[in-house]
Amino acid sequence: MGRVTVVDHPLVQHKLTIMRDKNTSTAGFRRLLREISLLLTYEVTRDLELTTTRIETPLAEMEAPILEGKKLVFASILRAGNGLLEGMLDLVPAARVAHIGIYRDHETLEPVEYYFKAPQDIADRLVIVVDPMLATANTSIAAVERLKGRGANHIRFLCLLAAPEGVERFTSAHPDVPVFTAAIDDHLNEKGYIVPGLGDAGDRMYGTK
Ligand code: URA
Repeated sequence: MGRVTVVDHPLVQHKLTIMRDKNTSTAGFRRLLREISLLLTYEVTRDLELTTTRIETPLAEMEAPILEGKKLVFASILRAGNGLLEGMLDLVPAARVAHIGIYRDHETLEPVEYYFKAPQDIADRLVIVVDPMLATANTSIAAVERLKGRGANHIRFLCLLAAPEGVERFTSAHPDVPVFTAAIDDHLNEKGYIVPGLGDAGDRMYGTK
């Protein structure tokens, strides 16, 4: 496997357990997703480069640390990626946002693209691609290929849950893209769902089932 970080912080694991529970309401699921995305974003940005700037506090002048380089890009794979995106933007409000509309054909499980909009200068920025579920990895592999085609060359992938099969496929296709997840589950079932998982993330966050 390529570089994979499982964020095993107790708060992340606790919130994830409540999200997995089928009795958790849509409102509860959405709130937890927002909270957990803050914690995951903290981890995925942990090693960002810093520079310093001269400021004046009420007491003294100082060289104080600030983030170096251009603003981050958060690339949300629609529609479930948007659930993670909201919390990420709470933490990094100046980030740029890309939207990638790709769905899995339910018969073939292959990705079909229907929307793509990204900042022009993504080559100069760190791009964090977000999708809650790394299952077959078909959509995430295709999304990262699309972003690379637009010049992105510094990419990380953030999800909530991953299947071992998805992690294997994704890291083989994009060994240069580190993966961050809250857990790697047991397996994928024949319908492409992560087991034990949490069900359909989009349906659970938007109450569409
Ligand atoms: N997408 C989901 O929403 N859930 C899964 O288990 C797999 C893919």
